[in-house]
Parts: sequence; C-alpha cells; structure tokens
Amino acid sequence: MRHLISILDLSKEEIDQLIDTANDIIEFPEKYAEICKGKKLATLFFEPSTRTRLSFEAAMYELGGNVLGFSEAGSSSTAKGESVSDTIKVVSGYADVIVMRHPKEGAPLVASMKTSKPIINAGDGGHNHPTQTLADLITIKREKGHFEGLTIGLCGDLKFGRTVHSLVEALSRYENVHFVMISPNELRMPDYVKQDILKHGNVTFEETTDLEAVLGKLDILYMTRVQRERFFNEADYIRLKDSYILTPKKLELAKEDMRILHPLPRVNEISVAVDDDPRASYFRQTLYGKYIRMALILMLMGVSL
Ligand code: NCD
Repeated sequence: MRHLISILDLSKEEIDQLIDTANDIIEFPEKYAEICKGKKLATLFFEPSTRTRLSFEAAMYELGGNVLGFSEAGSSSTAKGESVSDTIKVVSGYADVIVMRHPKEGAPLVASMKTSKPIINAGDGGHNHPTQTLADLITIKREKGHFEGLTIGLCGDLKFGRTVHSLVEALSRYENVHFVMISPNELRMPDYVKQDILKHGNVTFEETTDLEAVLGKLDILYMTRVQRERFFNEADYIRLKDSYILTPKKLELAKEDMRILHPLPRVNEISVAVDDDPRASYFRQTLYGKYIRMALILMLMGVSL
C-alpha cells in the first residue's frame, strides 16, 4: 500500500512511468474509460481549491470511477470538533483512495498512519504539494523534452509557496539543474530547503531580488502567487504582493524557448497580456495535471490495463 505525502515518495523511474502513462492516456483515453469502475475517490479539502480538487474529481470520472467528499472544513464534522484522525478512519470505510488538503503542515502524513487506504497529499500548509509537482514535471518534460541541465527560475513567494518546495525536491535529483531563486528578502526559500535539499545534494543555486537581471538565462520561469492566507499581518502582504509582475515588455529579455509555468491561481504576478505568448504554459499545465493525476490514481490503487 502506497501513499503520496512527499514527492520523494516516488523514485525518478516511477515519475517517468507516471509521465508515460499520462501521455498514453492523452493519446488513447478510451482505453482507460472504465478502468476504475466501481472504485471511489474521496476529496477531503480543508482549504480552498479549484484545480487540484476538480482535476482529481475529473480524473476519477474519466477513469470510470466515482467521487465523494467535501470542499470546505465548515461543511464537514471538523466544524463540530472532529479530529483529522477520526475523519480519516471513517472515510477509509467509504472510499478506495483519499485526496486530502489541509492548512496544517504534516496533516496528510498523520492521516496516512490512520488508514489502510492510499492517502494523497493535495497540499499541507506552506510545506508540500507533490501532485502539483507532477503537473509541473509533465509540463516541463512535454515542453522542454528533459530535466537535465535546465536553469530554473522560481519567482515570488518562495517562503510560503508549497509548490516550489516540492518542485525543488523533485528537480534536485536530475543532473546539472541550476536554480535561480527570485523573491523579496522577506519571502526567500526556507533554510531547510537550501540546506537539506540543495546543499546536501550539491545542487547549484543563486538568490536574487531582481527578476529582470536574470530573466535572460532561464529555461523555465516558475511564477508563484504571494500566499496571502499564510501572512501574519495584512500590511506585510500589501507591501509585498506586487513585487513581481511579468509583462510582455519584460519577456523581451527572455529566451525564445523559455517556458512560463505557474501553479495558479494567478493574482497580479502575470499580466493577462502574457497569456497569448507561446511561452506561456500555465493553462496547458492545468490540463496535464489532470492526466498525470489519472496516472497516479492508477499507480496507487494498483490498477493496470
Ligand atoms: C497552489 C496551492 O494550492 O499551493 N495551487 C494549486 O494547487 N494549483 C498554489 C497557490 O495556491 O498559490
């Protein structure tokens, strides 16, 4: 029985396998249309979501399975004081695989110790978001062809943004990846990511506050939203929220074959005028996210063609 709590729960070979399966699903969706018939996926979302929850639900429907769950803690017995452990024990009797998002770091890990069903971490506080990373990886693979040797810019809220923490963990395992971390000083990448993952793995990186100064050398620019909900005071959020705004003018500095990714939702950090640029990959990324979640459901449930 497998869970997906951290992206490092998957080996590089398994990530390749998931990307291959997702590509096969994109090409031959009819082969997979009934494969999860009679199976149920639960989505337990204690925090807001559009893409992650709906892409998991669409993924399960497209595999012929069914979906149950809640989209806010207030509509579940959490509002009456039920613990995560109790909720998980109960839902384990109703579903074959459980997708969970929670504001507390580590909550899905705790849940995984209380159930005999696979748990998928759909985001735990400011910590990790491994299935977003799968969406990011398939997008990079399809659009750049490989991970090795890429210079990856991560821009915005690198402190509270959980997607970039998981993405760094995943990409650090490939040869000659170089990270350029672009953020205000207050929102820099946490030390544990820099020490435990980058320095420990001999991965090269640099930090800067100046997007335009580094834009020209990037193969990937991964933009992120300033995570308002994790700030302790609104004044700090207002001061930092528009630190970076990507515009067509700034993109003139970028390589022709650079790709722009964003986990979405976007607030102000990418001007809508950028959407028509062929380098803008963020809406394709949302679609690939559904297909790779289909592949993940199959892997964790041990289902194959
Ligand atoms: C991200 C998240 O929830 O961390 N969204 C998503 O799942 N695509 C990014 C964000 O909310 O900024």
